[in-house]
Amino acid sequence: MKYKDIISKLTLEEKAALCSGKDFWHLVDVSRLGIPSIMVTDGPHGLRKQNQEKTAAGDVLGNSAPATCFPTASATASSWDTELIEKMGVALGEECLKENVSVLLGPGVNMKRSPLCGRNFEYFSEDPFLAGKMAASFINGVQSKGVGTSLKHFAANNQECRRMTINTVADERALREIYLTAFEIAVKESQPWTVMNAYNKLNGTYCAENKWLLTDVLRDEWGYQGVVVTDWGAENEIVDGIKAGKNLEMPSSGGLGPQKIVKAVESGELDINTLDENVDKLLALIFKGAENLHADYNCDMKSHHLLARKIASESMVLLKNEDNILPLDKSKKIVFIGEMAKNPRYQGAGSSLINPTELDSAYQEFLKNGYKAAYARGYDKSTDVPDEKLIAQAAELAGKADVAVVFIGLTEIYESEGFDRKHIDLPPSHNELVKAVLEKNKNVVVVLSGGSAVSMPWLYDVKAVLNGLLSGQASGGAIFDVLSGNVNPSGKLSETYPLNLDDTPSRYNFPGTLLSVEYRESIFIGYRYYDKTEKEVLFPFGFGLSYTTFKYSDIKLSSKEINDNEILTVSFKVKNTGKVDGAEVCQLYVAPPQSKIFKAPKELKEFKKVFLKAGEEKEVELQLNKRSFAFYNVNIHDWYVESGEYKILVGASSREILLTESVKVVSSVEAEVPDYSEKAPVYYNGDMAFATDDEFTAILGHVIPERDRDMSLPIDKNCTLEYAAGTSRGEKITKLITAVVEKIGGGGINSEMMKNTAFQIPLRCFVTMSSGVFNDEMCEALCDVLNDKPLTPSAMKLLKNSPSALMKLPDLFKSM
Ligand code: BGC
Repeated sequence: MKYKDIISKLTLEEKAALCSGKDFWHLVDVSRLGIPSIMVTDGPHGLRKQNQEKTAAGDVLGNSAPATCFPTASATASSWDTELIEKMGVALGEECLKENVSVLLGPGVNMKRSPLCGRNFEYFSEDPFLAGKMAASFINGVQSKGVGTSLKHFAANNQECRRMTINTVADERALREIYLTAFEIAVKESQPWTVMNAYNKLNGTYCAENKWLLTDVLRDEWGYQGVVVTDWGAENEIVDGIKAGKNLEMPSSGGLGPQKIVKAVESGELDINTLDENVDKLLALIFKGAENLHADYNCDMKSHHLLARKIASESMVLLKNEDNILPLDKSKKIVFIGEMAKNPRYQGAGSSLINPTELDSAYQEFLKNGYKAAYARGYDKSTDVPDEKLIAQAAELAGKADVAVVFIGLTEIYESEGFDRKHIDLPPSHNELVKAVLEKNKNVVVVLSGGSAVSMPWLYDVKAVLNGLLSGQASGGAIFDVLSGNVNPSGKLSETYPLNLDDTPSRYNFPGTLLSVEYRESIFIGYRYYDKTEKEVLFPFGFGLSYTTFKYSDIKLSSKEINDNEILTVSFKVKNTGKVDGAEVCQLYVAPPQSKIFKAPKELKEFKKVFLKAGEEKEVELQLNKRSFAFYNVNIHDWYVESGEYKILVGASSREILLTESVKVVSSVEAEVPDYSEKAPVYYNGDMAFATDDEFTAILGHVIPERDRDMSLPIDKNCTLEYAAGTSRGEKITKLITAVVEKIGGGGINSEMMKNTAFQIPLRCFVTMSSGVFNDEMCEALCDVLNDKPLTPSAMKLLKNSPSALMKLPDLFKSM
């Protein structure tokens, strides 16, 4: 133990106190021993440092210090540029130092299992390799400034619905190959100072106390050295959590967690050495976090805005460009249509909401640069209902212009932390607008905003589509850069855009039932699924156009045969064959040989973004290792390469393979390969969205856990108000809370998020997150009330005090 001396001087109470937050954003200090308090805060694509005193209940943004709002993860991943995201990390680290923040809570590397997940904008990809690489670069950037990060949400937190209680049921291979890989890459390549455990249960155990996840896999297998912190309110039983390998409860539970630790040590339930080891890790974090802070650190916010603009312009994806309508011809009469041209949608909602230092508008950028463009609002961003007058005005202007650039997308109410989307459609008011404009003018360019896949009913009729994603505070400038041709677009999609929701692999198992969500599609998410089932898609993973063209040639392998512990070098040439400079994201996929076990037809194993001047050619060299050919063999609990001929596929997208070679790989280990072909044929030649109970059980290796709750069971502290909504008292409380939340949320997205949180939060969190407003006794009394039990004296007391106690519940959300 590094801090043995200090630990020997700490009292049991002090040690226990260190294992929980001091408040919402700070760790506990022990001033008599020189242990300072450090601040941790959101994250990920900017700093959300709230001014707690001045923040009204329910105000997520609060009086947050102004900070650069960089593009969200779904955008940065589309840049496929690890160097650029590392630079963004450095800038974020600088802003943390400026605000005396020691740990930035991000990045989030959860997989985009379904386009519906409300938080997809905050996650990188449907592919774990791409997500892991982007995360590692982000973390290395931030941490190079002496500021920590928090890799989140560990693990299998792929939906917002019931995120605090849901039991994710997934087979180990899907976990290892899909849901854990990005975490593994980031841990091994960047050692984040903290890892944030997710709210949900994983195969029956809360992530906060899942020993398999936190100790066996994270520490013992991957060699993780840092601190595991709970997501805010994800603590269940603090002592069980510490025993399982979790180190810090956040936020403060008002002393309740530490009291339980003290009791457990005194009763012998928790070994003092385990607690000391825990404190040692916390002290390492605290001292490291405090070391680099100094009062007058400053950084150049203007240059960060420019960096945000560069990252945004490198991330946007050009999806269509018929007749080379883009870049826009300045001499043409252009009309800009859609409120988002002036008032952009540039970030998601929830805990990642940033108070930007400045905000570009695309329309203003065009005017600033001498374009004489007209503008029509087209729709009211705050409602979905088409406004016929605004649409008619826009169509009329479109009829008089040479080109109509229409800004549409998902509005704030569509995407947020705290709830999921119900469909993948754009607001009807936006789709109708495009339709009306098309009737007057065929030269339509659509600029899309949004953090995840959407349907595009007008795609075949418009000339061009630029997917701006959620590109941060400088998105307006970046859109100008790309549309005007100052920047040649080079982003490629980091997720598949399906034709419709009915095509997605998780369609029958998202968001699951009251108790659980079953990942029946196993390893087949994203392009792995669309390739295996040979489904057409709207836009494939890895797709993106440029204003220039590229030619791939001369693929070479360093060897035609390797042992699985040798490195294979793949080289090829890529040439810019057009007239303008540009960058190409070269993708390398590996296709496995026939096997007894089901596999995806191909998987991304390397990529490189290459900048090429017009006419320039470069050789690209990529390296593959054992892991590039391996699958997770549950028979030996390890990664395993089957001997055989593997195809090396190099291309411009997952559906545009331009060069092919093959290599024979020889396994260095003898092992039996699981064969599910008889028990679970759907994974071999069917549509795994339809996997039956028997088939899913076969790959799970155990029976499928309870899906629905026996409603005759009593309500306990791990239940939510949603479980209790059917009881007569539950109904009354539901009404009361709905009214409170509507009032403090002010309607719209805040209310929606808070309502979901209120009804889907386990009752125990009312205690741990209420800063003492609600105590254990009150929680028990609340359970009695919800169970329609005769009222005990304490329940009476609760009811008597409830209006005020419940009115104070908003404090629970105050800082979220
Ligand atoms: C979110 C985390 C966030 C934390 C603190 C949680 O609800 O899931 O991502 O870092 O709140 O705001």
